[in-house]
Amino acid sequence: MTEIKTFAPAYLQEAKTALKSAFYHEGSNEVFNEWEFAQTLLRSAGYLPELCVIALEGNEVVGYNALTKAEIGGRTGLALGPLGVRQEYQNRGIGSALVKECVRRAEESGYQWIALLGGDYYSRFGFESGKPYGITVSDNAFDNEHLQILFLDQTVKNRITGKLRYCDAFYDAEGNLL
Ligand SMILES: CC(C)(COP(=O)(O)OP(=O)(O)OC[C@H]1O[C@@H](n2cnc3c(N)ncnc32)[C@H](O)[C@@H]1OP(=O)(O)O)[C@@H](O)C(=O)NCCC(=O)NCCS
Repeated sequence: MTEIKTFAPAYLQEAKTALKSAFYHEGSNEVFNEWEFAQTLLRSAGYLPELCVIALEGNEVVGYNALTKAEIGGRTGLALGPLGVRQEYQNRGIGSALVKECVRRAEESGYQWIALLGGDYYSRFGFESGKPYGITVSDNAFDNEHLQILFLDQTVKNRITGKLRYCDAFYDAEGNLL
């Protein structure tokens, strides 16, 4: 049975292993990558401990997901990611469980939106393209079509517009997004 729990520093090494299994590829940046991110985030002002979760199978960390502080056009909300599930555990609903738990907690805490840069996977949770809302990314390395948003508060739907700015942990020393 998969258990979704709040991340704690004691799980750091295992969370990094899970993220590395999900994201590592030949040519991965050794310093600024998704698994080192989990460590950098602990020192970041954008870290929201209650919105950082892990998936456990038995006592083993097999997945990680974080919501961090973000801004769009100067308005506060959340950014999702990195989300990763250890390769051997993918396609068993663990990624979905991690996203749903984070969305539930964000709603409970009164946040109005969650943005992310990602693929088709997220539409199943209600994420939609940021394009119609004039939401852009803060870095040119990513095309706008990867930018997605989930409105937790429908009343802000047409009022959130402008550039998405992640918290500092997402940028390398040159200011490039992970
Ligand atoms: C993406 C990821 C987190 C999904 O976790 P998971 O536990 O395997 O996902 P679930 O079991 O909840 O969902 C599986 C479903 O998602 C689909 N899916 C998985 N990865 C997908 C992707 N990149 N794009 C679209 N759909 C995807 C599967 O085909 C499956 O579809 P089905 O329900 O129609 O059968 C996991 O595959 C992963 O860690 N991938 C590598 C890292 C990554 O790409 N992270 C997201 C960055 S944007």
